[in-house]
Amino acid sequence: MKVLIVGSGGREHAIAASVAKSEKVSKIYCAPGNGGISQIAECVAIGAMEFDKLVDFAKETAIDLVIVGMDDPLVGGLVDKMEEAGIRTFGPRKNAAILEGSKAFSKDLMKKYNIPTAAYENFDDPDAAMEYIKKGNFPVVLKADGLALGKGVLICNTLEEAMDGVKSIMLDKQFGAAGTRMVVEEFMTGREVSVLSFVDGKTIKTMTSAQDHKRAKDGDQGLNTGGMGTFSPSPFYTEEVDEFCKKYIYQATVDAMAAEGREFKGIIFFGLMLTPNGPRVLEYNARFGDPEAQVVLPRMKNDIIEVMEACIDGTLDKVDLQFEDNAAVCVVLASDGYPLAYEKGKVITGLDNFEGKDGYYCFHAGTKVTEEGLVTNGGRVLGITAKGKDLKEARANAYEATKWVNFDNKYMRNDIGKAIDEA
Ligand code: AMP
Ligand code: GLY
Repeated sequence: MKVLIVGSGGREHAIAASVAKSEKVSKIYCAPGNGGISQIAECVAIGAMEFDKLVDFAKETAIDLVIVGMDDPLVGGLVDKMEEAGIRTFGPRKNAAILEGSKAFSKDLMKKYNIPTAAYENFDDPDAAMEYIKKGNFPVVLKADGLALGKGVLICNTLEEAMDGVKSIMLDKQFGAAGTRMVVEEFMTGREVSVLSFVDGKTIKTMTSAQDHKRAKDGDQGLNTGGMGTFSPSPFYTEEVDEFCKKYIYQATVDAMAAEGREFKGIIFFGLMLTPNGPRVLEYNARFGDPEAQVVLPRMKNDIIEVMEACIDGTLDKVDLQFEDNAAVCVVLASDGYPLAYEKGKVITGLDNFEGKDGYYCFHAGTKVTEEGLVTNGGRVLGITAKGKDLKEARANAYEATKWVNFDNKYMRNDIGKAIDEA
């Protein structure tokens, strides 16, 4: 089988590594890919939003399965384009990817089908939003409706901050067209858990849980990023929490999408908050999380191609999804300065230390092969993942492995997985 993966981050590297383990696969392509992915796949210089070129490439190369890793092409309808051209594709169609593409849509869906989430109101008009906020409590959460690289959420502690927030989202369009609509949401407290799942339109199978660290600095300080590290499983995701979510959230979401005529096939990522009043949905994504995929996929026992094909064919109920009884931790090595300004093009050394080391992974997020060798090419550069018999061992292993790799402006958080000490 020939497989084409669309995307270029650590998530796509983790997907490619899983696909490479499948006996069904003879060749992997990745568009556009990155320096690390090029070691296991042939990278093709086509951008993830160049739909016509991607379809042409898939036809010319007789690709058997396309896997769309990223949110933008999913929300933009790449799966529909591929299917129209007769190419088997894993991921939700445009009318289902709206679950991630519009926060106003997802909030309305949850309200209509009684799926637990924060109280909210949607606004198209900034003045109306301001009037509503003036009557409410603080902190208050403002969310740009559309995709904003995980940055379109503002937590405002005072009325003044909230007024500035409405202005920057809806009037100054800080997040572009994503801010044409806005959700104003109740502020919740509690631990966050990411639960990824495979969905075939009717059946849902959840994967092992994970927790992300979104802030740039130790102690959850600094700006929001795409994610600075993850661990899996989350010790806070207890059986009781799982039971609640199975009863009120997971199947309910899949059924709601089907009832709306928006059958969802692919990955649903549930961003949950474990509040004092029980689990609530913070957000949905229509794809694997990054860096969640980097700790979840290495622990999956199944052949990923078999699971993905079952999602496409509607036979997921026949799949026994299994994960190893161990743990994994991922520490992101970033360019100092991320998520603001940072330098690129720094030579990366020490990657050969990972060769032959079972249970250790160096997933590339922003790297590029040049004449000088492999260099940094983004804010998040590498995801260093290690397994262990438990979370403590996995964390020690991952931090040990961060020492094996070097580049000039290497930056990482030193407290990834620290929360497990409180479990
Ligand atoms: P989202 O993109 O919706 O997941 O939001 C990004 C981050 O903002 C989440 O991971 C939370 O840390 C925080 N957040 C979002 N919504 C809320 C809320 N209603 N209450 C508290 N924190 C929130
Ligand atoms: N790590 C969060 C995300 O992928 O959106």
